[in-house]
Amino acid sequence: MKIKQYHWHHFFGGIALCLLVIQLVTGVVLALFYAPHLNEAYASVQSLYTELKPVAWMRDSHRWAALFLAVAVALHLIRSVLRKDFLSRDRKTLWLTGVLLFLPMMGFLISGVILPWEWRAYWFMEMVPNYVAEIPLIGPAFSQFLLDAFTMSRAFVVHVILLPVLTLVLIDIHALSRIKKRDGGLHLYFVEHGLFALPFLLVIGLLAFLLPMPTEDPAIVPMPLEGEGIPTAEWFILIFYAPYLYFKGFWATFFGFYVPLAILLVLAGLPYFLPKGLLRRSGQEAPSLKDRLAATELLAHGRKILGQRMLAKVFGGVTVLLVALAFFGPFYAVNYPSPTLGCNSCHNIGAGVRMGVPPATFKDREKNPNLKDNTFMVEHWFYPQVVW
Ligand code: HEC
Repeated sequence: MKIKQYHWHHFFGGIALCLLVIQLVTGVVLALFYAPHLNEAYASVQSLYTELKPVAWMRDSHRWAALFLAVAVALHLIRSVLRKDFLSRDRKTLWLTGVLLFLPMMGFLISGVILPWEWRAYWFMEMVPNYVAEIPLIGPAFSQFLLDAFTMSRAFVVHVILLPVLTLVLIDIHALSRIKKRDGGLHLYFVEHGLFALPFLLVIGLLAFLLPMPTEDPAIVPMPLEGEGIPTAEWFILIFYAPYLYFKGFWATFFGFYVPLAILLVLAGLPYFLPKGLLRRSGQEAPSLKDRLAATELLAHGRKILGQRMLAKVFGGVTVLLVALAFFGPFYAVNYPSPTLGCNSCHNIGAGVRMGVPPATFKDREKNPNLKDNTFMVEHWFYPQVVW
């Protein structure tokens, strides 16, 4: 008989999947109201806040859910590394697809920030080509290609068709196809994990209500530093740009691009280049076997074992917590001065057309020389009241 075990640390992947469903639902609603054109995009977002408050709330939920999704995925990865899932010989594709899913996630974050086309979006749209320009050999051509190819409707298609399809294919290999074979299948999985995700959904809804994106123009404008210290989904991208605050040229690229790339490649390849002897078959490994034994012992030995099991659980939990702190700590330390919600204080239509909407000459680095100056761009993002 198979005894089902519930562990809180098995749930981060499930929560991520539930949040992805939330993103799909809110995203479809938003797509109904969004106009993917340079001159209309921001106006279409603003009109939600004046005319369609419930949809505006959904937009802010979509934003906050993106943050929670990224955090859940990070915790899921930390837990998988600690559980040494990469040692499993039969689950190589599972591991690889999991690591590869990181790429569409970043794609979603970047294209998602760009879609509203205010100055935050403009900043990101210009920084992505700057960023890839530093790759040797192909960098400059790739960067030029991104600049030339950028249109609002393309960014929209990437965000709502290309990336979702790619994610679905990877998720299917990574999780769905396995879950479908289990007792109860997808239904039971979503019921169980949905229940666990419920408190997070409530927090997301509340955050969206309490801390909406300042969008009104110019009636209620934020202060320049608003959003400082508040974690947002953008932080997961800003972390790659933060090195420009501390280093110049090559070293900024080294820490912002090559180090993360190396980590990604090593992580993705782990099960492939580890010595064969280290890898284990899933039969040997199956934590559920251990759990099942522990569960029978539990019945036999009563309270004593219960104490030990609790101890093991607490120990496991504390380990995950410590590693998560080590991961999110520097993340917070570097990004907290980022006033993500404050751009609209200066960059709103009340401050003149030049400051209100991104200029029509936005791709032209001769007319807008600041754009190719990464140090200016990053310092202006983190300290807009000082550097402008
Ligand atoms: C204190 C007011 C203020 C705040 C807050 C502010 N900016 Fe700026 N920003 C400026 C000024 C002034 C300029 C220079 C405009 C010019 O050159 O005509 C500028 C320039 C820029 C540029 C250069 C592009 C160009 O066309 O010259 C970008 C991109 C930008 N800001 C994005 C942002 C973002 C993103 C935020 C929020 C994180 C932000 N700004 C917050 C005042 C501000």
